[in-house]
Amino acid sequence: MAKTLETLRAECLECRRCALCETRHNVVFGAGPDDAEVMFIGEGPGEQEDLQGQPFVGRAGKFLDDMLELIELDRSRVYIGNMVKCRPPRNRDPLDIEQRACAVWLQGQLELINPRIIVCLGRIAAMRFIRDDFKITREHGQWFDMDGRRVMALYHPAALLRDPGKRPETFEDLRRLQAEIRAICTHTY
Ligand code: URA
Repeated sequence: MAKTLETLRAECLECRRCALCETRHNVVFGAGPDDAEVMFIGEGPGEQEDLQGQPFVGRAGKFLDDMLELIELDRSRVYIGNMVKCRPPRNRDPLDIEQRACAVWLQGQLELINPRIIVCLGRIAAMRFIRDDFKITREHGQWFDMDGRRVMALYHPAALLRDPGKRPETFEDLRRLQAEIRAICTHTY
């Protein structure tokens, strides 16, 4: 049977590839249309995401919705996923071994959804996805070309909640994202 996002999700929900499966309540596979042109990649589920099985539904998620609204983008039009699909205990950074064990699911999502634009949310996703020495303070908002896709990193919404001083720069980054979506996407608005 050909692999679809639904069959990938079903396999992922059974995953026991790393120790995070011992403490999770739910696997947070990701959410959005199968043919999304824009994909946001966060770090890993927090408490609310773990309890509800959905990405970015806690405080940071509400802030992400506000960020999307600023550029007239609704979360129903984009795909939202994470580097790791299970909550790291006490919201610590996901370990390298956990990120590597989990990479197979994100890789599958990318192949099946095939987005034109990827937006990394925060340092962890950008370091795994763009370059391992990625500097979020210097390189947020810049475009990178990777495997035929346009890739950008934004400050993580949780960082923007903690540090409102970073919001004006992020607003500029979001404008750049909006311009790129308008330039290369066909059905995102
Ligand atoms: N932070 C993340 O990186 N991902 C989520 O899904 C929620 C909070």
